[in-house]
Amino acid sequence: MNKRLLSVSLLIVSCIIIFSQCISKRKEDLRGAQFAGSAACVSCHKSIYDNYVATGHYNTSSLASQSTVRGSFAGPDNIFSYSNGTKVIMEARDSGLYQAAYTDSALQQIHRFDIAIGSGRKAQTFLSWRDGKYFQLPLSYFISAHCWANSPGFPPSYPKYDRMIPSTCFGCHSSAVGTKSVGIEGTRLSEEFEKNQLVYGIDCERCHGPAAEHVAFHQDHPQEKNGMHITKIGGLKNQQKLDMCALCHSGLGTPQRPAFQFKPGDALSDYFFPDFTRPEKATEIDVHGKQFQLFTASKCFIKSANVMNCSSCHSPHNNERDQLTAFSRRCMSCHKTESHNFCKMTSLPAATLSENCIDCHMPALPSKNITMLTNGQASPTPDSIRTHLITIYKEETKKFLAKLTK
Ligand code: HEC
Ligand code: HEC
Ligand code: HEC
Ligand code: HEC
Ligand code: HEC
Ligand code: HEC
Ligand code: HEC
Repeated sequence: MNKRLLSVSLLIVSCIIIFSQCISKRKEDLRGAQFAGSAACVSCHKSIYDNYVATGHYNTSSLASQSTVRGSFAGPDNIFSYSNGTKVIMEARDSGLYQAAYTDSALQQIHRFDIAIGSGRKAQTFLSWRDGKYFQLPLSYFISAHCWANSPGFPPSYPKYDRMIPSTCFGCHSSAVGTKSVGIEGTRLSEEFEKNQLVYGIDCERCHGPAAEHVAFHQDHPQEKNGMHITKIGGLKNQQKLDMCALCHSGLGTPQRPAFQFKPGDALSDYFFPDFTRPEKATEIDVHGKQFQLFTASKCFIKSANVMNCSSCHSPHNNERDQLTAFSRRCMSCHKTESHNFCKMTSLPAATLSENCIDCHMPALPSKNITMLTNGQASPTPDSIRTHLITIYKEETKKFLAKLTK
């Protein structure tokens, strides 16, 4: 063999070796090799991915930064005064964002914003990393009130810094968290986490299950048009479809297994202990996060013989917030104008009715669980959430009609 050819082939061989090492060194997903990560889905599911990045799911947790934290760091809106005289100021420094506590202008404590929880539809709360643990910061940002105020459940009298955040919180607001150890501290669970080991947001594989095999198969078989090595949600039973969402949308139950292990097709009852405190009347369930209980207590669900699920109205990859006319059209796929089960509010013109079924039948109601106190006083705008108990609300109808005539 001539020398030149030999050296060229050696070069090619070594390139292949180096290149294949690059590929095998691709950073493995925190959850293990059976997970591919959302970025791996873009090449084949681009339009789904592009829509999905605008959803609350994708943005529900993030590294805290000027671009992810919604509240103001400029005066005068960056100050919160506790009733004991302590002032906490939101400060943007070169080294990061901080909540700094002062009494009589003397700095007492300073805590960094490390992680933001909540996409900022209604509120955002923040976690600070300390000694291997995450602590919730005493002040959260409330979107509709446009203000910083004491985090839900925190006192308005003084800033409190010892609320440890458990992994269950990440189980509904992220896709993975690295835990180091679990212990007991006094009467409470004390979990230590691995620093910077988090998969932010609720990603594709939280809902679809591990997909590395699916990705590898389709990369090798670009001609295959049928999705392989992935759970077909269309083939699941209706209860299984509901359970995939109920995992996080049935409130704070007592977990039996970490929510992170859930895969589509699993049963909710394997993840939570049964909740015996469920009230007799659905109207007594707090609207916050209990969409599963409320929706399944509605006549639409009960009387339509187990065909309805969350996807009857929600398209899981899109942000369709405030598109009430689009949602109303989905109501009218069953409640047709001409049929006997259309709305009985015949005093309203049909066109007005059909634009917005939602404000009368799924009104936004204040949550009993969130009692926000602004500077020591009950907030003038308690957060409200769309109830998923679809029924007749006489009071809300009156309010809606009053707004129309204005
Ligand atoms: C190399 C191409 C490719 C990549 C990368 C890829 N997929 Fe797919 N996927 C396909 C094809 C082809 C189908 C079948 C056609 C369709 O439904 O779009 C499919 C279908 C699916 C389905 C529907 C299955 C069904 O029939 O109900 C899901 C869910 C899915 N993929 C999830 C993912 C996720 C999550 C990722 C990223 C972790 C991903 N895919 C990455 C090619 C790919
Ligand atoms: C892993 C937990 C988890 C699962 C599973 C989950 N959700 Fe969510 N969902 C959340 C959290 C947390 C929020 C609040 C997001 C935020 O920070 O704004 C949310 C918000 C939403 C919203 C409002 C978001 C917006 O952008 O306006 C809708 C609608 C919703 N979920 C529907 C669903 C449906 C339908 C399913 C099942 C297909 C589902 N969710 C599964 C945790 C989850
Ligand atoms: C069982 C699942 C679950 C757990 C556990 C959970 N959340 Fe949530 N959280 C949700 C859901 C679902 C929503 C959306 C509620 C709605 O719109 O009805 C939400 C909403 C929020 C919001 C408002 C988001 C926004 O954009 O408006 C914040 C902030 C929040 N949660 C913080 C936390 C913190 C902090 C913890 C842990 C201490 C926690 N949550 C534990 C499911 C959960
Ligand atoms: C909140 C849960 C959730 C998340 C997050 C999610 N999906 Fe889905 N996905 C679903 C559900 C539910 C269906 C079935 C929809 C239906 O029955 O109409 C679905 C259907 C699909 C399908 C097949 C049907 C279609 O629309 O083409 C594909 C492909 C898919 N998802 C890919 C993805 C990818 C890629 C991501 C991340 C960018 C993702 N999904 C994120 C819940 C989710
Ligand atoms: C899959 C079909 C379906 C969809 C979609 C649907 N419903 Fe229904 N709905 C029903 C059925 C079936 C009943 C029971 C009617 C009966 O008792 O004969 C019902 C009952 C109702 C009732 C009477 C409830 C009561 O407590 O008396 C209202 C109000 C209602 N639906 C409003 C809505 C609204 C608003 C939407 C959209 C947000 C909607 N429905 C979507 C099937 C549906
Ligand atoms: C009959 C239609 C319908 C069904 C079924 C349905 N939703 Fe909704 N959902 C809505 C409408 C309408 C809104 C209000 C949208 C808005 O105001 O932007 C909403 C809003 C939400 C929100 C945001 C609530 C808020 O105010 O912060 C969440 C979370 C949610 N739905 C989850 C679910 C889950 C989980 C299921 C299944 C258990 C489900 N939904 C089933 C119609 C429906
Ligand atoms: C202005 C508020 C308002 C709007 C908008 C509205 N409804 Fe109603 N709806 C009511 C009230 C109030 C009743 C009870 C009327 C009665 O029984 O006299 C009712 C009754 C109903 C019923 C029960 C009918 C029965 O068989 O007893 C259904 C179903 C319904 N509405 C569906 C819808 C749908 C679908 C839309 C959107 C196309 C809609 N409504 C829009 C206020 C409203």
